[in-house]
Amino acid sequence: MLHAIIMAGGSGTRFWPASRADSPKQMLKLVGDQTMIRQTSSRFGDLIPPERRMVVTNRRLVDGVREQLPELAEGAVVGEPCKRDTAPCIGLAALLVTRVAGDPDATMLVCPADHVIPDSAAFQAAVKQADKLIAESPGRIVTFGIKPTYPAEIFGYIQRSESLKAAGAPAYQVARFVEKPNGNTAAEYLESGDFYWNSGIFVWRAATILDALRERQPAMLEHLELIVDAWNTPDRDALFDQEFTAIEGISIDYAVMEHATDVAVIEAPFEWDDLGGWQSLTRRLGEDENGNTIVGKHLGFNTEGSIVRSSDDHLIVTLGLKDCIVVHTADATLVASKHDEESIRKVVKELEARG
Ligand code: GDD
Ligand code: MG
Repeated sequence: MLHAIIMAGGSGTRFWPASRADSPKQMLKLVGDQTMIRQTSSRFGDLIPPERRMVVTNRRLVDGVREQLPELAEGAVVGEPCKRDTAPCIGLAALLVTRVAGDPDATMLVCPADHVIPDSAAFQAAVKQADKLIAESPGRIVTFGIKPTYPAEIFGYIQRSESLKAAGAPAYQVARFVEKPNGNTAAEYLESGDFYWNSGIFVWRAATILDALRERQPAMLEHLELIVDAWNTPDRDALFDQEFTAIEGISIDYAVMEHATDVAVIEAPFEWDDLGGWQSLTRRLGEDENGNTIVGKHLGFNTEGSIVRSSDDHLIVTLGLKDCIVVHTADATLVASKHDEESIRKVVKELEARG
């Protein structure tokens, strides 16, 4: 059976001051009037009903996620004691689905909680296609490729080889997977025309990913197995803390995808956006005749090329402003030049250091 796992433990610092440790990107309403994680769960529709959905997140977000996704089964929101990146999150989910939920033949759809995919029907069709590709070859890992538009260093790259001639969107065998190459390499990939960006969404049988982790990350899998063996015992919380904390963090892209051999890529038949920061809002929300993207109450004169986001009915007035980002929240305001957007991460680090 098909199960959905939502990975929601990221910290997402680029949307400060809206994003904070207790309200990272996945918990924000950045596009539309629902949070990113709410949109992610709704996207599964009837294809994967709520009783087969699970969220793995950071412990301090568990209550907030439950509030957002009341349709999920009791115990389906798992809170990690610390951040160890996506490989442990996925390994834990695979063990829980096979051993605790009792579906040893489960197929998992693994999704980030913070992507924009406007067309749920097209998304579900692609997942069904992935499921078919796995039925043909059970050890296969299926990825969804996005046509790259610039030499991004923030994505994984997937090189396609022979066509798989499956019904549905174009699908290919994967020649190799390279996680976050540097700019020069990314530019070569873009030039070659046979690379996709990795959307970060995967479909595989739980048994396949567990075998891969057992081979590549045996220590990690041992820690995870100890946790899951104690899942329905009084020792669960103590073991979860102790064993999970002892894991060395690594993403699934480095841990498994760069080494996997039976990988397919479906050319994503859906529009996809991994909102990278404030400027990406312009891509999603459009701009007015002066090139501004405005969210909330704003009055501007001689204001161009700027992103202004207010909240709680707070009025922002801008005069003679060009290429800036202004974000107001209840307890902090950002005023930045667009050219300095990358420095938001430094700000978050500095604020953390100051406590
Ligand atoms: N539970 C849990 N625990 N979730 C996590 C953790 C963790 O420790 N770390 C990250 N996540 C969640 C994030 O919230 C996000 O939804 C998802 O896992 C992916 O993590 P990111 O940290 O956002 O990964 P990335 O964007 O740098 O890279 C991945 O996604 C790209 C596409 O957006 C990779 O798969 C790339 O190859 C891919 O191109
Ligand atoms: Mg991401």
